[in-house]
Amino acid sequence: MTTSSFEFTDKNQQVEVTSANKSLTFSIVKPEIIQVFQDYGKSTHSYAVEGDKTVDTKYAVSKDADHVIIKTDALTVKVDADLHVDVYDQDNHPLVIHYDGQRESINQNIDSAHKKIVRSEGHEVAAVDEASKTYYEVLNQLDDDEQFYGLGDKTGFLNKRGYEYDNWNVDEPRPHIETFTHLYKSIPILFGIKQGHPYGLFFDNTYRSHFDLGKESAKYYVYSADDGNLNYYILGGRTLKDVVADYTYLTGVVPLPQRWMLGYQQSRWGYSMDPKRVEEIVDKFEQYHLPLEAIHFDIDYMKGYRVFTWDTDKFADPKGFLTSLRKRGVRVIPILDPGVKQDDDYDIYQEGLKKGYFAKNKDGSVYINRVWPGKSAFPDFGNPDVRKWWGKHCKFLLDKGAAGIWTDMNEPATFDGDMPDDVVMTDEDQPSTAKMMHNVYGHNMAKATYNGIKDATGKRPYVITRAAYAGTQKYSTAWTGDNQSLWHHLQMSIPQLCNLGLSGFSYAGTDIGGFSADTTPELLTRWIEAALFSPLFRNHSALQVRNQEPWVFGKQVLDIYRKFLNLRYRFIPYLYDCFKNETETGLPVMRPLVLNYPDDETVRNMNDEYMVGDNILVAPIVQQGQTARAVYLPEGEWIALDSGVQYSGRTNILANVPIDKLPVFIKKDTLMPWGQAVEHISDKPDTKMTFRLFGNAATYTHYQDDGIDFNYQKGEYNQYVVSVTADGNCQIKLDHHGYAGQYQTIDVQLNDRVVEFKFDDKSDSYVAAK
Ligand code: GLC
Repeated sequence: MTTSSFEFTDKNQQVEVTSANKSLTFSIVKPEIIQVFQDYGKSTHSYAVEGDKTVDTKYAVSKDADHVIIKTDALTVKVDADLHVDVYDQDNHPLVIHYDGQRESINQNIDSAHKKIVRSEGHEVAAVDEASKTYYEVLNQLDDDEQFYGLGDKTGFLNKRGYEYDNWNVDEPRPHIETFTHLYKSIPILFGIKQGHPYGLFFDNTYRSHFDLGKESAKYYVYSADDGNLNYYILGGRTLKDVVADYTYLTGVVPLPQRWMLGYQQSRWGYSMDPKRVEEIVDKFEQYHLPLEAIHFDIDYMKGYRVFTWDTDKFADPKGFLTSLRKRGVRVIPILDPGVKQDDDYDIYQEGLKKGYFAKNKDGSVYINRVWPGKSAFPDFGNPDVRKWWGKHCKFLLDKGAAGIWTDMNEPATFDGDMPDDVVMTDEDQPSTAKMMHNVYGHNMAKATYNGIKDATGKRPYVITRAAYAGTQKYSTAWTGDNQSLWHHLQMSIPQLCNLGLSGFSYAGTDIGGFSADTTPELLTRWIEAALFSPLFRNHSALQVRNQEPWVFGKQVLDIYRKFLNLRYRFIPYLYDCFKNETETGLPVMRPLVLNYPDDETVRNMNDEYMVGDNILVAPIVQQGQTARAVYLPEGEWIALDSGVQYSGRTNILANVPIDKLPVFIKKDTLMPWGQAVEHISDKPDTKMTFRLFGNAATYTHYQDDGIDFNYQKGEYNQYVVSVTADGNCQIKLDHHGYAGQYQTIDVQLNDRVVEFKFDDKSDSYVAAK
C-alpha cells in the first residue's frame, strides 16, 4: 500500500487519521479516555453515554514515517498507515496492541454427512465459520498472562479469558452454563490486565457483536460486530479501580437507592393470584420475626396479563390492599412486561395503536408475537414519546400504592420465534430496526419506567430489569434472570455479580434459592449466606417449583435464615455508605478481590470469594456437603467477624464452616457502622447508631440522609467522621449537618469498652458521655 496519503488533522481534541481514503477519528475525552470512531454511516446516537463527557485535556499529536502518535498524560495511541491502533500507558507499557496475523478457526471441518450423524443424537454442530461472517473486527495481541473481566453477567467464571461471548439479549430458560455465549444483557465493557497493567475497552455498538477472548487462539483476542459504526473507548489509568471509574464516568453510576431497597424482599410467581396467599406470606414473616421490606407481584395480579390493569375479581380493592400491607411495613413491587395484549377492547392497546407507538413490520402493520397475554404488540421504546407514554401509565400502579416496578421479558422475549431484525423501530428521532434497537429495548423500557416513577413520586425510583445494555444502571437494578436451584448457579452468582459490579451494575442480585427447579434445604441455606451482601436481596421462584420461603424446611433452616437476615440488617448502614461512595467514585459495592488487589496474582481467578467495598471479605460455602474451606486472605491483617480471631494475609487459611456459618472477615483497623436488626426499615430517621472497632485504630466517614427522596442533592444530608486512635481516644465530627434527622446517640464499641456520644444541640456536635 502507498503511505503517501497517510496524514492527520487535529481540531478541538479530535484527531482524524486518514490513510488510503479511510479514516479513524480519535476523540480525547479526558487523559484516560480516548474514543475511537470509524464511520460506517450508521446512527451515532449513544444509549450508554448521555451528554458530552469531554473535558479540556492537554495532549500532543505527532507523526513519524510509520505512525501518527497521540499522547495524553495517561495514554499513548499509535496509529499506523493501515489504521491499526496500539495503545500504551503513561509509562509506555503496552496495553492494547494490534495483532497482525490471520485468524485461525477452531471449527472441526467435518463433512455434512458426519454433521448429520452427530446432530441425530441432539448434539450441536457449528453451522458456519463465525470468522468468515465478520463485518468488522478489532484484533489484538494476547499475552500469556492477560486476564479479562467485565461483560456484565455472562455465564462462567470471573476471568473471561479463554471463552467467547455474544452481545445479543435473549430470554434463556435452559440452565445457564459456561458455554452459553449470551444471556439477557449486553454490556460490552472489557477490562484487561496485561503484564500487570490495567486497561478497558468499551465497545458502544448496540448491534449484535461478539468477543473471542483467547478461545480461538492464545495469540489474540477479537471483538467483532455484525453492523453499526466502529465505536469504542480506550480506558486507561494507574489501577484497575481507575479504569472501572473511567467506565462509570462514561456510562453513569447507580443513583443512591432508597434505604429500604437494601433490605430483604420476597417474591414468587403465583403469590399475587390470591390476596389471601400474600397475606399468609406476610403473616408468616411476622410470626417468625423475619425482616421483610417488599413482596413482588408477578404477572398474576393483572387482568389476563394486560399491562396497567389490575384483576379486581381477585383483588376487590387493590389500593386498600396495598395500603394495608404498607401499614405492616411491607411494600409491593408489581411486574410489567413490554408485550401489550392485542385486544380491541383494551384501552392501552387501542391507545398505542392509534398513536403509532408499537414496533411495526416492514409493510407498516403492527408487529405481533406471543408472550404471556397471548398475541401482543411491542412498544417502540426507542421513541422518546413512547417512553413518556409508558412512564405516564406507570402512575396507574403507583396510585395503587406500588413502591416500585419490576420490568421483565424486555429482551424482548417472544414465544413464537425471534423478532426479525427488520422489524421497524425508532432510534430517538430516526427510523431504525430491531437489528439496532434489540439490545437497548430493555434499557429504554427501564429508562421510561424510571422517569415515570420519578415524575409521579419525586422519590428515588425502584425499577428492576432483566434485560439491559451498558448504562442501564442509571435507571434500574438488575437481576440475573431465570437461574435454577442448582449448586452450580449458586457458585456462578459470585462471578456474575462481581462482573456486573465492574460493568457499572453495583445494584444487582440473583434469585436467591434459584428460580426454576426445586431447591433443597441445604442449597437455600447456603444461598442466603452467600448472598448476604448481594446488593439486591430477593428470594424468587417459579410457579411450578417447590416453595422456598425461609420456613418451609423446618426450624433449622428457618433459624439460620433469620440469623443471616438479621446480620444483613446490621450491615445496611455500611452498604448504604458503599452506595454513597459508589455515586462518587463509580466503584462497585460487591466486587471481586482483583479490583482491590490487582497486583496479587492469586486473586485474578478467584470465583468463590468476594469483597464489599474495601473492608469486608466474604468466603461462602458454595459446594453441596462442604463444611470446611480454604479462604484466601490478601495482604494485610484480617479479623474474623464471628470469632474476632486475627489472621495475616497473603495466605490461605482453613475455615470450619458448619451449615450455620459464613466466613466474613473485616480488614483490621476498620470502624464498621452497625445497624439495628429491625423487621422493617422505617421512613423515620434512626435515633441511634453504633460503630464497631475491628483492630486498634481507625477513621471512618459515615453518610446519612432521609433515605427516600432527592433532597440530599440540595445538601440535606449528614456526614460523620468517626475516629479512634491507638491510645483509645475516640472522636465524632459532624462534618456536614444538613439533615435534621441526626442520631441522638452514637455508641463506639472499642475492644474493652463502649464510648457513648450524645448529640448536643447547642454546640451542634457530639459529646462523649462521662
Ligand atoms: C420470567 C421472569 C421470572 C418471572 C416469570 C413470570 O421467567 O424471569 O422472574 O417470574 O417470567 O413473570
